[in-house]
Amino acid sequence: MNAPAMQGLALNTPAYVKNAKLIAWVADMVALCKPEAVYWCDGSEEEYARLCQQLVDAGTFKKLNPTKRPNSFLACSDPSDVARVEDRTYICSAKKEDAGPTNNWMAPAEMRATLHPLFDGCMKGRTLYVVPFSMGPLGSPIAHIGIELSDSPYVAVNMKIMTRMGKAVFDVMGTDGEFVPCVHTVGAPLQAGQKDSAWPCNKTKYIVHYPETREIWSYGSGYGGNALLGKKCFALRIASNMGRDQGWLAEHMLILGVTNPQGKKYHVAAAFPSACGKTNFAMLIPPAGFEGWKVTTIGDDIAWIKPAADGRLYAINPEAGYFGVAPGTNTLTNPNCMASLDKNVIFTNVALTDDGDVWWEGMGDAPAHCIDWQGKDWTPAIAKETGAKAAHPNARFTVAAVNNPALDNAWDDPKGVAIDAFIFGGRRSTTVPLVTEARNWVEGVYMAATMGSETTAAATGAQGVVRRDPFAMLPFAGYNMSDYFQHWLNLGQQLTQSGAALPRIYTTNWFRKGEDGKFVWPGYGENMRVLKWMIDRIEGSAQGQEHIFGISPSYEELNWTGLNFTADQFKTVTSIDKAAWQAELKLHSELFEQLAYHLPSALTATKAELEKRLAA
Ligand code: GTP
Ligand code: SPV
Ligand code: MN
Repeated sequence: MNAPAMQGLALNTPAYVKNAKLIAWVADMVALCKPEAVYWCDGSEEEYARLCQQLVDAGTFKKLNPTKRPNSFLACSDPSDVARVEDRTYICSAKKEDAGPTNNWMAPAEMRATLHPLFDGCMKGRTLYVVPFSMGPLGSPIAHIGIELSDSPYVAVNMKIMTRMGKAVFDVMGTDGEFVPCVHTVGAPLQAGQKDSAWPCNKTKYIVHYPETREIWSYGSGYGGNALLGKKCFALRIASNMGRDQGWLAEHMLILGVTNPQGKKYHVAAAFPSACGKTNFAMLIPPAGFEGWKVTTIGDDIAWIKPAADGRLYAINPEAGYFGVAPGTNTLTNPNCMASLDKNVIFTNVALTDDGDVWWEGMGDAPAHCIDWQGKDWTPAIAKETGAKAAHPNARFTVAAVNNPALDNAWDDPKGVAIDAFIFGGRRSTTVPLVTEARNWVEGVYMAATMGSETTAAATGAQGVVRRDPFAMLPFAGYNMSDYFQHWLNLGQQLTQSGAALPRIYTTNWFRKGEDGKFVWPGYGENMRVLKWMIDRIEGSAQGQEHIFGISPSYEELNWTGLNFTADQFKTVTSIDKAAWQAELKLHSELFEQLAYHLPSALTATKAELEKRLAA
């Protein structure tokens, strides 16, 4: 059955594909993976509809009620394949030091020897989809091209939404253009006559990056960042390596535009760890008291940021869609997000209601009955008794950016938007105040580097424990974390020399809890109050109060119109507990010990200053 492919007869290469390197690579991968057929995606609507129907016929997709959720589908994954697998993710640089202590590492030759037998015949009985995609606007000087080979049609249709996917990519590539080769398999070959499962995957998983040769190999998972290789694997892990070599940044950041009533517009890029509010913040609707203010979305997860000739940093969103967290999203906390989900959505691991729509925890009133993400009956009574969740906590939606009613006019602009401020924000029940401005770039880099956050369902493993998550990039930095810090410091120096104003750097924490265990800060749209204070700082109209770690607002400096939030409550979310901070700085020390190799001395010096002020 595989003989024709091995002889190069079944590649089905379309006439418009003229890149010799690409054709040779596809032939090699076909020979290795031994699929039954090869299909080249053209990115058309017709193709999307056809592949979705094929997924329905295979039982992977359920078509949702077309009057309630037009052209939308629900996929439920295997219960063992629900999130990124950080412990199975590798940076295989030639030298171990270049991956650094925060990444899993294996020597490239050893990893290749490990993967080769796994990939040999891994696509038997399946179709290999050739998925051409551009991260960033097609043909833009900031954009980069990837080709994902995958045996998952679910991946193909998700990539259509998440990237600029289709045959126009081949025109940009021409005969000898560069591309990042990405190979993905669910790792579940089918024997002749064997019935497929609705969500094929393998217990063994490998998410592998070769930074020097800029390759991605993913085995065994069909879920999210493990499988949609344009996202974390390319746009963060490989792109961070490109950025280091070429003088730019690839960051786990949303990008938003915020326009004041006078029509003046600012751009903010914010790094929050996974499932810590990027999508929500990027689609924020200003609350009462902010009439005339407008927030618009450029991106919700990833930013590519490059210095321009004017000495400023310009950011683009390399993605074309959102792969967002469903649970907790509702019309009160995030109306723009809910409106984005009206039609043309792929939902993964949410619950199916009896009228063919979707539901998840935190969406609103629970239905009397639904089918949970594992296909079981779910009722509020069952949930009460067993704690069963209707939707998996890491359930997600895939939707095109153009569905977002708050999409920024410049979201697709190849030159990007000029960044005025960076925000770094973790999920911390205690210790870290609502908002702090760094006094300078180095202090800002220190704050970002030492950020801690409580872990979430976006990755498998322990939940809710505080771990250091430098720059919200712990699972995504594709090289040594200390070298990454140095790269940020170098960029700051370079920009300073150009004479342009550096973006301000802030840290935020929307997640402090009271004695009752509940969030004290109302969050969501109310985060606008903090965003405005940041702009006031840039404008020079807010003085702030200087403290040990930087500058924070006084109660009076925030606009409280439309919100009942007392000075006492404000104190609960902004107070600085010395003992807690002494303990916190010990954790910074532990991090710095771990990262000692190449750790920038500017950061150790900053820590010493903080310790001195704390002791005073
Ligand atoms: P990734 O896509 O995993 O990178 O996550 P993200 O940072 O985009 O997270 P998202 O915006 O999807 O938010 C994840 C969870 O955080 C949801 O359950 C939200 O309800 C919750 N959340 C978002 N913003 C806030 C906030 O301001 N306050 C509180 N308490 N929760 C929030
Ligand atoms: C994250 O975990 O930060 C995500 C989702 O954005 S995934 O694409 O699965 O990595
Ligand atoms: Mn993310």
